[in-house]
Amino acid sequence: MVRILVLHGPNLNLLGLREPDVYGSLTLPLLDEMIRATAKEAGVEVDIRQSNAEGELVTWIQASRERYDALVINAAAYTHTSIAIRDAIAAVDIPTVDVHLSNIHRREPFRHRSYIAQVAIGQVSGFGAHSYVLGLQAAVHYLRGRKVVPQPTA
Ligand code: DQA
Repeated sequence: MVRILVLHGPNLNLLGLREPDVYGSLTLPLLDEMIRATAKEAGVEVDIRQSNAEGELVTWIQASRERYDALVINAAAYTHTSIAIRDAIAAVDIPTVDVHLSNIHRREPFRHRSYIAQVAIGQVSGFGAHSYVLGLQAAVHYLRGRKVVPQPTA
């Protein structure tokens, strides 16, 4: 079965408490449930992890090479700073979707640049928790185009 790795970066463990006017009131466990439901509907497996540490995210991305068909990542603040995460994605060369809860292009200028988008197949930004649903569906759609995931019958 097709497997997709979903990574959440720093401070996303605080969803629900953290700036709810920007990031919404949904907690990370509830967001993860939404992601699992989307995966089930699409007929793919997901592993979901969160880390506040850049190096840990890099290690997980490196290890994803043999084990996953795609990566959906919200690298949070590291999106705008981490050449290490960008380089890890380029190194493993698996289709990656850059996901954000908020619309990073409508926010402060320092959030406008995404190092992840530069090595991703695309970006979903601004739809709250639904960004992850769309991001996962986009990854599956991309893999279907490459015939990694069979089309549903009927
Ligand atoms: C974020 C946007 C980033 O700029 C910010 O640092 C985050 C969350 C988002 O999902 O909207 O932590 O990635």
